[in-house]
Amino acid sequence: MNLYICEICGDAYIGEEKPTDCPFCGARNNFIKPADEAKPITEEKIPASTRGDDRSSTRGGEISELSKNNLMETLALETRANAMYLCMAGKAQDYKTKAMYKRLAKVELEHAVIVTKLLGISMSEIKTETCADETKENFQKTIKLEDHAVELYKKFTLEAVEPNIRKFFGALVQVEAGHIKLIKNYL
Ligand SMILES: [Fe+2]
Ligand SMILES: [Fe+2]
Repeated sequence: MNLYICEICGDAYIGEEKPTDCPFCGARNNFIKPADEAKPITEEKIPASTRGDDRSSTRGGEISELSKNNLMETLALETRANAMYLCMAGKAQDYKTKAMYKRLAKVELEHAVIVTKLLGISMSEIKTETCADETKENFQKTIKLEDHAVELYKKFTLEAVEPNIRKFFGALVQVEAGHIKLIKNYL
């Protein structure tokens, strides 16, 4: 048995081989490393010389204003997606669809948690969302939401000057694009 760590969410995975995608945040397996080699983005240190003191942290003040704003927008989007998918899980008429939306909700919540770690803030209360009674309608809404996320995160990837934040948004682009592909299987 081996221990692997996902560099995007920082969670550990125990198994014979690393999974194709992180079961927690959905990051591709190029971000999943043997535990000894993994450098989680939430733990990345800024060299002391660029900080002017000896604290080791990327949190708070060291993040550019633009990245901070982009991360806050991401937090809002991910928590909204979490609430939306929980609603859709509740409306699902078959177990498969319910299970899928429950997993999507957990993945989006994980994304929100990563943002709070990057910003060094605590998670705010998540407002409940409404959704359609019809599964087909919810699938369409899911694709719209994920399409928007992909476009936004592509832009945020280009805007991020911090390597760990660029890595985060790059990974999210792939994860959310994967969600679109998944839903399209059911249309
Ligand atoms: Fe992960
Ligand atoms: Fe997400």
